[in-house]
Amino acid sequence: MEKSIGKKLNTSVFISGRGSNLKSLIKYSKRNNKKIKIKLIISDNYFAKGLNFAKKNKINSLIVDYKIKKFAEKKILLSLKKNNINLICLAGYMRILSSQFIKKFGRPILNIHPSLLPKYKGLDTHKKVLKSKDKFTGATVHLVNSKLDAGKIILQKKVRIYKKDTEKSLSKRVLKIEHKLYPAALDKFLLNTKI
Ligand code: GRF
Repeated sequence: MEKSIGKKLNTSVFISGRGSNLKSLIKYSKRNNKKIKIKLIISDNYFAKGLNFAKKNKINSLIVDYKIKKFAEKKILLSLKKNNINLICLAGYMRILSSQFIKKFGRPILNIHPSLLPKYKGLDTHKKVLKSKDKFTGATVHLVNSKLDAGKIILQKKVRIYKKDTEKSLSKRVLKIEHKLYPAALDKFLLNTKI
């Protein structure tokens, strides 16, 4: 039987699109021995499909206009403070957080990336992977620092690449493991970290 635990960490998930990782994180957070409570969803995109998961699960969301990045980040920081957020999980967030933002937040920020980092940072990951002669790709959950996809790695999982793979088939196979990897990485991270 799963034991229930005391105080949960107020967590904010940042998304830009589909939100399938958000969905898996919400499911994870609702298991009663888990240490996080997803309290706030941040999006830079009014039309992000993932915002529907926020609605469905009655989680507050904030949609931020990024015309001026400095103001966008200021607005986000205020909202994080108001909601007492002490952990951020980036899940398909298409903006790079400034080093000032990371510093001002001052708490851990995690991200999931669809490659075996440090390989294939940035965009078009699966395209780059298919151009390589690699036999495996995968996904990585890592801490965010001011360099792109370069913070400390928390957990990775490998996925086989087949000759017949296309960007679509590969991204589908990787995404499936992402949905297990992010929760597993959070378990590992929270077990070893005092926040
Ligand atoms: C995932 O592949 C994630 O690794 C990358 O962006 C994608 C987001 O997918 N950073 P979703 O919005 O969680 O479905």
